Amino acid sequence: MGFTDTLKRNVSEVRARRRQGRELAARNPGFAEAVAADVAVTCKFRGERWELTDKWDVLFNGVRLALNSDAFAAQVCYRGKVALRRRGVPVLPAVAHRMAMALSDVCIGDPVVMAPGVYIPHGQVVVDGLTEVGSDVILFPWITIGLRAGNFNGPTVGDGVHVGTGSRVLGQVKVGTGAYVGANAVVIDDVPAGAATVGVPATPLPRRDPAPAAR
Ligand SMILES: CC(C)(COP(=O)(O)OP(=O)(O)OC[C@H]1O[C@@H](n2cnc3c(N)ncnc32)[C@H](O)[C@@H]1OP(=O)(O)O)[C@@H](O)C(=O)NCCC(=O)NCCS
Repeated sequence: MGFTDTLKRNVSEVRARRRQGRELAARNPGFAEAVAADVAVTCKFRGERWELTDKWDVLFNGVRLALNSDAFAAQVCYRGKVALRRRGVPVLPAVAHRMAMALSDVCIGDPVVMAPGVYIPHGQVVVDGLTEVGSDVILFPWITIGLRAGNFNGPTVGDGVHVGTGSRVLGQVKVGTGAYVGANAVVIDDVPAGAATVGVPATPLPRRDPAPAAR
């Protein structure tokens, strides 16, 4: 195949991937909805009152969390980036992205779809690729949710998943609803809903028998 043919194929692959990324990113929630849910979920996981009464309550708690919770301000910058990019605003999305990284090392790529209501306790997270993250998810520090070489499709992290500190979730895998990814695990296979998975490569822990019924 000649140089021109290779170039044409390369350009059309890049365009197709960008289109796919834009389609996926369009499924991101709106700014107000996302931040309100992030406030509530952050309060819930911090053991604070999380049933918020009105928009002023959300605003008050949002400002409070931006001051008190290590990565909340960065998370708001990320939500801002998504909203600005969706409106086609130039330059500012890149500024918001840099701010999220400068504040708490929150690096979430453009094609990522992050449902409303995610808790990032301390920052130091990388999420990238054609990747989806559900609601009620906790992203502990020093994690990567992203790609394996040669494939732009990333993980699907279900609702209620806890991604343990230092872990990596790599490639086109599904982490089922309510699963726990153990600290320092490297997940390269699907994780069943509700399972706890540990190790390198990660394997699910045997399920424990439910507690015996009280007599
Ligand atoms: C994976 C995890 C959810 C399992 O919790 P659990 O269901 O209560 O499991 P247990 O503590 O009873 O451990 C069960 C077994 O898994 C092992 N195990 C637990 N966590 C492990 C991990 N991260 N890596 C490797 N093995 C692990 C235990 O040693 C134990 O092994 P054994 O049966 O041979 O004794 C938890 O250990 C974990 O890693 N949570 C992440 C917490 C975190 O990241 N916090 C961040 C704070 S900033």
